[in-house]
Amino acid sequence: MENISNQYQRQTMKNWIFILVLSVMTVGYVNAQKSTLQKQGTATQLVVDGKPFLVLGGELGNSSAACTEDIESIFPKLQRMGLNTVLVPAYWDLIEPQEGQFDFTLTDKVIRQARQNDLKVIFLWFGAWKNSMSCYAPFWFKENYKKYPRAYTQKGKPLEIASAFSENVFQADNRAFSRWLEHVAAIDKEEGTVIMIQIENEIGMLEDARDYSKEANALFNASVPAELMSYLQKNKKTLHPRMLEKWESQGSRKQGTWQKVFGADIYTDELFMAWHYARYVERMAQSARSIYNIPLYVNAAMNSRNRKPGEYPSAGPLAHLIDIWHCGAPSIDLLAPDLYDNGFTDWVAQYKLHNNPLFIPEIKLTDNNGVRAFYIFGEHDAIGISPFSIEGGSDSPNSPLVKSYRTLKEFMPLLAKHQGKGTMKGLLFDQENKERIIYQDDLKITCRHFFTLPWDARATDGSVWPEGGGILLKLAPNEYIVAGSGIVIEFEKATENQIKSQALGEDGFAQAGGKGDKVISDKVMWKGARCGIGSVDEVKVDEDGTFSYIRRLNGDQDHQGRHVRISVGEFQILHVKLYEYKSVSYTHLRAHE
Ligand code: DGJ
Repeated sequence: MENISNQYQRQTMKNWIFILVLSVMTVGYVNAQKSTLQKQGTATQLVVDGKPFLVLGGELGNSSAACTEDIESIFPKLQRMGLNTVLVPAYWDLIEPQEGQFDFTLTDKVIRQARQNDLKVIFLWFGAWKNSMSCYAPFWFKENYKKYPRAYTQKGKPLEIASAFSENVFQADNRAFSRWLEHVAAIDKEEGTVIMIQIENEIGMLEDARDYSKEANALFNASVPAELMSYLQKNKKTLHPRMLEKWESQGSRKQGTWQKVFGADIYTDELFMAWHYARYVERMAQSARSIYNIPLYVNAAMNSRNRKPGEYPSAGPLAHLIDIWHCGAPSIDLLAPDLYDNGFTDWVAQYKLHNNPLFIPEIKLTDNNGVRAFYIFGEHDAIGISPFSIEGGSDSPNSPLVKSYRTLKEFMPLLAKHQGKGTMKGLLFDQENKERIIYQDDLKITCRHFFTLPWDARATDGSVWPEGGGILLKLAPNEYIVAGSGIVIEFEKATENQIKSQALGEDGFAQAGGKGDKVISDKVMWKGARCGIGSVDEVKVDEDGTFSYIRRLNGDQDHQGRHVRISVGEFQILHVKLYEYKSVSYTHLRAHE
């Protein structure tokens, strides 16, 4: 008979094995994240359910997820529009209407409706700050201004902006955020409908560049934190140029007060304020990570239209403050721009940085967003785009955004394979910026707005040109994918000597007789190889990133082999094969002359 001690040992062993198996399973479970960020070459990709995922999104208007009926009626429309992701506010005031009492009805409804309509969700925590202000803080918080103090202007005016320097503010905000996120994790960890979380919304100080409360003033007059000073020294070579300039302007000091290290102006006030917003957000992000490991980001209102800090929300997660935000909030995965101003290509270039992937959580809803989406994926390996107040958009199958998202959804597996590998260019044209020339291998590739071909009445009748744009993806030498809308592309050898030919009509014949202008003399003979279009096929991309033939586009559709084009209003994916030909017979003839 087995003695008690053996039995005990056996049982203990069994218990250990059970605990071990359980912990392996738990670790596996925790690690089996449904949504994560991964590097591929120079790109950072959002990976969802094991596959790279491009957010073809839309953000709801601020009050559109504040009642279950609205959520119920809006989400099916978003599915008809072809979105794969919806960005939805999580409102602190409705989640914690009474202090310590939580109501997750709206969150539950959002997740259920998203699943029913095949959508992923990015939640926006409208907590202590929304567009600088604290309008989404619950009533009990707002009225208890002594416990939850406000930020002050230099003149002593209290603002409806909770103070980032108050521990009470942080504790209240973070407790609600954590309780809410625990709930999200509990109901969604396995399914993974929620794929990212935005902490707060457009953080920033208004009226003045920084908070002038007593607590803020004391810290402003103290030394710049040592971790920031050592970050600047360690990362000197890769600092944002504006950060470097500001630091060098005072002699790159290694310590001192904010004004000693960076100079006495409102831009230093902004740095100081950004540091403290970032520290606050970092603590939120750490709470989030301890509950649910999911990508986290912050969004920024732009410092556009020549506005100064305080005229725009000062100290938000803006590109020129990226070093402060990175050092202060290392748990935040990316800083994201909200784009409502002109100059789209310049803005996006500012946010695709060596240390920041591009994600556009908000952009003004316009028909141009369809081609802009192509541009950012091709040019900047972007993670996604999301027009604001999306429920107001059209769900007609002919609307440009619907067509664009439909095409991009199909294109996604091929596009994702190429992100970060330097094989793609994004194209975007409007009436002012009509042309881009790309030199690649031995080719000169001239890309233009489709309306540079004057054949469509809208090109010349005074209409404002819709933007044209797309992606030029190199599969192999002389083999390309061209996708998008409203573009025309010509391929030549870069070495071809440029004998300018006459303007051609749609049929490819001279537009009118006798107008040819010879640019080089008759004595100069043709030299070198030429590039021809072998074939242009419209293709369909399959789920594994391979593509299959739909139809050949030849004759009038490729200008008898002169160019590749996609008309304004159409979205297509084209497979282009080029070939090379030379003046063999001519050289041969001359050789025997
Ligand atoms: C940017 C904000 O982030 C949104 O919540 C909304 O207020 C829009 N501006 C309105 O244009």
